[in-house]
Amino acid sequence: METVSTEVVTENKSCHYDFSASQDDSPVKEYKPLNWLKNSQAVKQPDPETIVTDSQENKDTLQALNNCVGVNDAQLAYEPQVKEKLPIRRTVCYVCSEELIQRCNQMIKIPMRADIVHFLIEGYGLLKFMRVVRPRPATYDQLTVFHDPDYIDFLKRITDVEDEEKYDEEAQQFGLSYDCPAHVGVYEYAALVSGATLQAAESLIDGTADVAINWYGGWHHGKKDSASGFCYTNDVVLGILKLREKFDRVLYVDLDLHHGDGVEDAFCTTNKVLTVSVHKFTSGFFPGTGSLDDIGYNRGKYYSINVPLLDGIKDPEFVALMYRVLNKVNDHYKPDVIICQCGADGVAGDPMESFNLTPLSLGRCVQLMLSWKLPVMLLGGGGYHHANTARCWAYLTGVVLGRKLNNDIPEHKYILEYGPDYELGISAGNMKDSNNKEYLQGIYRQLMEMVNHIS
Ligand code: CO
Repeated sequence: METVSTEVVTENKSCHYDFSASQDDSPVKEYKPLNWLKNSQAVKQPDPETIVTDSQENKDTLQALNNCVGVNDAQLAYEPQVKEKLPIRRTVCYVCSEELIQRCNQMIKIPMRADIVHFLIEGYGLLKFMRVVRPRPATYDQLTVFHDPDYIDFLKRITDVEDEEKYDEEAQQFGLSYDCPAHVGVYEYAALVSGATLQAAESLIDGTADVAINWYGGWHHGKKDSASGFCYTNDVVLGILKLREKFDRVLYVDLDLHHGDGVEDAFCTTNKVLTVSVHKFTSGFFPGTGSLDDIGYNRGKYYSINVPLLDGIKDPEFVALMYRVLNKVNDHYKPDVIICQCGADGVAGDPMESFNLTPLSLGRCVQLMLSWKLPVMLLGGGGYHHANTARCWAYLTGVVLGRKLNNDIPEHKYILEYGPDYELGISAGNMKDSNNKEYLQGIYRQLMEMVNHIS
C-alpha cells in the first residue's frame, strides 16, 4: 500500500546532504512487525499505520491508568475512539537545509545535535517520502510580530561582536547569559530557526502539506523581550501566530520535559489558542511554572492546561493520561490545526534524569493527534542525549509516514553514536516513579473537570 507522497524537492547540488530519491537500499521496511524492544517492561512499538484501540496492547496501557486512578464509566468515554484502520494519505513536509543544520550544530547547549538527527532520518531513507523544504530566515518584521523590537535590535547589534563582555550588562537584561549566551551569528541563527517554523506553518496554510516537521525548532521558553532556557526567539509563538492567519482555533501540545511557559504566556488571555503542556513540576525545576492551577486569564481562562508530573513517570501511565486529556480537549475545543512540540528530554537516558519514558509514548500522542485528520505541525525542542533524541525524532518521522523503521541503526556518518547496541529502540528507564496512585488520581480528576469549561 503505497499512499504517502513521494514528491521531493531537489536541493542545490552543492549541498552535501543527499535529498534525492536515490536510495533503493533503504532500510525502511514497510509494515513489517518487529521484535521492537527486548525489554519486556517497555511498551511495544505501536503499528504506525493505525491506532487500533481494541488491541490487547492498548487495553493494557489504559488498564494501567484505570488501576492508578479508578476511573468511572463516564470518564471511560474519553478512551481513544478511533476504531477503524487509518490509511496513510498524508503529504509530509520536512523543513531543512544545510545552513539550518549548520547553524543549529553550533548551539553550545546541543552541539552537532541537528546533524545527528538529520543524518539518522536520511540514513533511514525517509527523505524520499517527504517534501524537503528549504527555510528562509524570518525577516525583522516577522520576528517583531511577537518579539519586542528592542530585543531583536539588540540581537542584531551583538551578532557580529566577538567580545561579549562589551555588552555584558545589557545582554543580561535581555536574558543573554547563562543558558542563553550571546555568540557570533546569534541573530542569523534565531532568524533562520524561526523562519523554518514559519515555513512549516505556510505549508499547512497553503495546503501543500498535511503534516509539517521542523525538528530544529520548538524553542518554547523564548519571551517577548528576552531569551530564556536555551531559546533566543520563540519560533513556536511565531508559528502559531502565522497559523492564526488562516485557522481560527489552534491547539498547542507541548510534550517536552519542561513547561512550555513562553508559549503559554503569549496566549494565556485568548481562547483562540489552547495550550496543553505536560511536564515535570517539582520545586526548583526550570522554569518553575505550569502548576495544575495555572489555567489562563480573562477570555483565556481554562484555555491553558497543565499536566504537572513528578520524577519517574513511565510510558503506560503517561500515555493513558495524555490520551484521555487530549481526547477530551479535542472533543470540547474542536481545533482547526495542531502544533506539537516533541521535546525528547523526558526520554530515559537524558542527562535531565527525570522521566522514564521511551519515544513510544510521544509516538502514541502524535498518532492520536494525527488520527483527528487535521493539519499538524511537529517541532523539536529539548533533548540532551543526542543519539536518543535522534532515535526519537526519526521514529516520530516514521510514525507520520506510516513506516516502521528497522530496529538496527543503518550504516551512516554517526553510527558510532548508537553503541553499544546500535538499535533504534530505547528501554524504559528504571528510576523511582514518584507519581503514585493518589497523585495521578488527583490531577486526572481536576483536569477532566477543568476541560468541561472549554467550548
Ligand atoms: Co526541555
